[in-house]
Amino acid sequence: MAHIFDLAGQIDVPPYTDGHKTGTQVKFPTTPVFSGFNLPSRIEGDIVDLEFTGQIPREINGTFYRIQPDHRFPPIFEDDIHFNGDGSVTAIRISAGHADFKQKYVHTERYSLETSARRSLFGRYRNPYTDHESVKGVIRTASNTNITFWRGMLLASKEDGPPYAMDPITLETWGRYDFEGQIRTPTFTAHPKFDPETGEMICFAYEAGGDGHDASDDVVVWTIDAEGKKIEECWYKAPFCGMIHDCGISANYVVLPLTPIKASYERLKNGGNHFAWDPLEDQWYGVVPRRGGKPEDIRWFRADNAFHGHVAGCYENEDGHVVFDLTVADGNVFFFFPPENETPQPPGKRNALKSPLTRWVFDPKAASGTRVTPFETFDTNGEFSRIDDRWVTKKYNHVWAAKVDPTKPYDFQKCGPPAGGLFNCISHFRMDDKVEESWFAGPTATIQEPSFIPREGGAEGEGWIIALLNHLDVLRNDIVILDAQDLAKGPVATIHLPLKLKLGLHGNFVGQKDIEEFAGRRRPGGDLGPVKMAEKPLLWQEKAVQTNGHVNGKVNGKSENDTNGDTLTSVVGRA
Ligand SMILES: [Fe+2]
Repeated sequence: MAHIFDLAGQIDVPPYTDGHKTGTQVKFPTTPVFSGFNLPSRIEGDIVDLEFTGQIPREINGTFYRIQPDHRFPPIFEDDIHFNGDGSVTAIRISAGHADFKQKYVHTERYSLETSARRSLFGRYRNPYTDHESVKGVIRTASNTNITFWRGMLLASKEDGPPYAMDPITLETWGRYDFEGQIRTPTFTAHPKFDPETGEMICFAYEAGGDGHDASDDVVVWTIDAEGKKIEECWYKAPFCGMIHDCGISANYVVLPLTPIKASYERLKNGGNHFAWDPLEDQWYGVVPRRGGKPEDIRWFRADNAFHGHVAGCYENEDGHVVFDLTVADGNVFFFFPPENETPQPPGKRNALKSPLTRWVFDPKAASGTRVTPFETFDTNGEFSRIDDRWVTKKYNHVWAAKVDPTKPYDFQKCGPPAGGLFNCISHFRMDDKVEESWFAGPTATIQEPSFIPREGGAEGEGWIIALLNHLDVLRNDIVILDAQDLAKGPVATIHLPLKLKLGLHGNFVGQKDIEEFAGRRRPGGDLGPVKMAEKPLLWQEKAVQTNGHVNGKVNGKSENDTNGDTLTSVVGRA
């Protein structure tokens, strides 16, 4: 008898029918999200001693980590989006003027289950109602947005789920991390902030009250101290369930930008998008105290409709008011989440948006609901703002960003539409004299988020900028290192990857001293010992078990049958 795979070749089943995956053929959609530079890379591996041009500064000793969404399997839905790809981490270890490369996926529960099935089981971005029945009740995050170093572990995070801890040296995934049982919410930010004075992590979650997919308007803000102990937790209410992607911290306050892109439980249940842009809604900013916060302490400030980008700096001025800088775009950046009942705009519209660095000054004692206008709008146009992180909470001078400069040439014939946006320059903006300088990547290249590498013992901004360069014409990546104070002279080193990665989201450089110190402390017998992975299900899973009797899949790496005797059944009636 012929094997089914032998027969499959004779049956002409297209990979997608009416927008849904059909058949067993391993074939990605032919949409722009999966074509050209956006074709999934799907690799894990090592390269020792990468080729480079120029000189890699010998003072740099550490690892540049960055993370990219990178679909492992063809998606269930043909119109899937980049943000739904599996988290894959790059580590560029730099030492003694040389660089090594390592690439590994974050081994989430999604990763394990889809590996077993050899196909996608999770449906649309942040919509469990579009998942395969066998994975209902499973933590579905793809952990693809940021990779941060915390007390000897890397935390791979995406704001729709809990973080996963990885080994900073091997990139092995240790497991889901719940801060030793202290945080069990369904969601957790991809942009925790680290106070360089206190060593604290300030973190938050939105859509945090229920299961993370129910448009809850609950927001929670935590502080974890340098020893890993949760010392602050306060729950607040937002005016609606919208995206709070990034945050700012000053010495005494946290600022939460609430973007008018809204979740809807009804839309989710109907199989639609998690978010819809609301062009009639204000942009909001929630300001809360860092210490001793109470639910009624939140002050919401509102301004005319706009789309928040990433935060540069945040600090308090002489009046005790909070200065808060971030890029703000004059329209919907997430064109794939159009207003309710509208079809997505073509991606090209994104490049027409203006996205200047914008300064707000909030009086934390003002009445909640106060309308505000920008204190200052700087003459920049970009995204992925970064500062010297040693200046978090302080008045600062230097900002670097991926810049869109439409006046520069772009070779459309060789490159086609610029994947992910026309970020063709790295810019450096100085707050003190309002001067911007930039480096143009050329007519066939774009850049990814720049990260700052401090020079040991240097003043603010002394060091280097490191970023991935996308060669859109030949489908390959380089890594450029530039003098942070002299971008215009071009890269001091260009490290050549012999392959194409994907458009990443965020990255951070970690010094070797920190990596090694914590590796020692985390060894068995060290004063901290190995990182403890989550032992209990998330609260919503626990509730689902109580309500429905069971959850699906794995909980903390154990199979269903190992988990308090629960067996495989779906959790559907979440309402
Ligand atoms: Fe981000």
